[in-house]
Amino acid sequence: MDTIPNSPAARDIAYFFHPVTNARRHEQVGPRIIERGKGIYVYDDQGNEYIEALAGLWSVAIGFGEPRLAKAAAAQMEKLPYYHSFSHKSHMPGIELSERLVKMAPVKMSKVFYTNSGSEANDTAIKLVWYYNNAIGRPKKKKIISRIKAYHGITIASGSLTGLPLNHRDFDLPIANILHTSCPHYYRFGRDGESEEDFATRMAQDLEDLILREGPDTVAAFIGEPLMGAGGVIVPPKTYWEKIQKVCRKYDLLIIADEVINGFGRTGKTFACETFNIKPDMMVLSKAITSSYQPLAAILFTDAIYQAVADNSNKIGSFGHGFTASAHPVVLAVAMENLNIIEERKLIQNAAAMAPVLQNGLRRLSDHPLVGEVRGMGLIAAVELVADKATKKPFDPIGKVGSWVFERAHDHGLIIRAIGDSIAFCPPLIIDAAQIEEMISRFRKTLDDAQAWLRQQG
Ligand SMILES: Cc1ncc(COP(=O)(O)O)c(C=O)c1O
Repeated sequence: MDTIPNSPAARDIAYFFHPVTNARRHEQVGPRIIERGKGIYVYDDQGNEYIEALAGLWSVAIGFGEPRLAKAAAAQMEKLPYYHSFSHKSHMPGIELSERLVKMAPVKMSKVFYTNSGSEANDTAIKLVWYYNNAIGRPKKKKIISRIKAYHGITIASGSLTGLPLNHRDFDLPIANILHTSCPHYYRFGRDGESEEDFATRMAQDLEDLILREGPDTVAAFIGEPLMGAGGVIVPPKTYWEKIQKVCRKYDLLIIADEVINGFGRTGKTFACETFNIKPDMMVLSKAITSSYQPLAAILFTDAIYQAVADNSNKIGSFGHGFTASAHPVVLAVAMENLNIIEERKLIQNAAAMAPVLQNGLRRLSDHPLVGEVRGMGLIAAVELVADKATKKPFDPIGKVGSWVFERAHDHGLIIRAIGDSIAFCPPLIIDAAQIEEMISRFRKTLDDAQAWLRQQG
């Protein structure tokens, strides 16, 4: 760490409290200051280059340093830098993006509501579910079912939907009426001799049992990432979504598809709802919608929900929910230009074409002594490191090796994400085959280092 008292590092430690960071460790190691980005690369203030193998936080679809987004933001700032959309006000970026998203949606959606983050979007989805059920005279039907290892955000309600211990512990979460059903990770939770399809049947049965235990007239909705991201990149087992949706329909649960990571090409199709044939009542989008050049999330919902919500807003005077920066015109102008670029450069087609290069390339690491499972689809994947390949025994403590690998990867010019001991990959959608091979080669070197380190440790 740079210890000059007035250095950027020292000032960072003095003033900047970092999200999702061990604060005491940060005082010792200080920040890695990222200064600029270009394409799939970012550069720190020491001039080091890194492949951004997680596209920031699963989000920079078009890559870093795209001047067209800067121009779109500047043009909108000059014309109308801000306006709200409360009380019947509107603006062209709001009208245009809403029309575009509804037309892009894989199932018939009616309206779009905007927030500044995925967390706020999932809070909004919960509020819409509650408002809707009150509107149609089902005031008891309020519980929402999420899953163990889900990630849906960190605000009080969305953080409750999240099914990860570190996001709950000591924050007094989850709140009441949010439940978690089983995690559909076949490698970890499949039983000996159980086929993937049988595992999916058991997952659907677990959901049905939970609904019956709680009382179907109290359970309002099921929320899921089509392919789970921040919980470890968990690809649903074959037939999972078909069976889960059947249970939801049987007990009249709304289905909320959280496409915050999956949306806009990540699984090789525009939306993962297409990949897994999911017919949601609500879809939550964010991240790649602006390639995270600006903060934005969108909730799309069906006409059945809209009609009930509209009637209720009329009955009680208003739909009393919205943010100062909901549908911020500069942010939406950036989203429009970002979607133009995704279309013009055929980035979703590129994700589909590059998928085998990434997936097969990472699977070639399966023979590495540390690698337990390689999983993924499209341009998202994870490599799970284990202490014993044969028994799938995890390292003790879980996460120690993952953290070491995450740190060491920087020395090989690679930024990845460690989720426990699963190493996640989610590169910008612009990545080409040579860059994927280079990314995997840097990762293999890191794994070899990890193996040497573990041997040293005995
Ligand atoms: C699937 C999913 N939903 C919601 C969120 C929360 O989004 P935000 O961090 O913008 O609040 C995330 C963030 O990673 C996510 O992956």
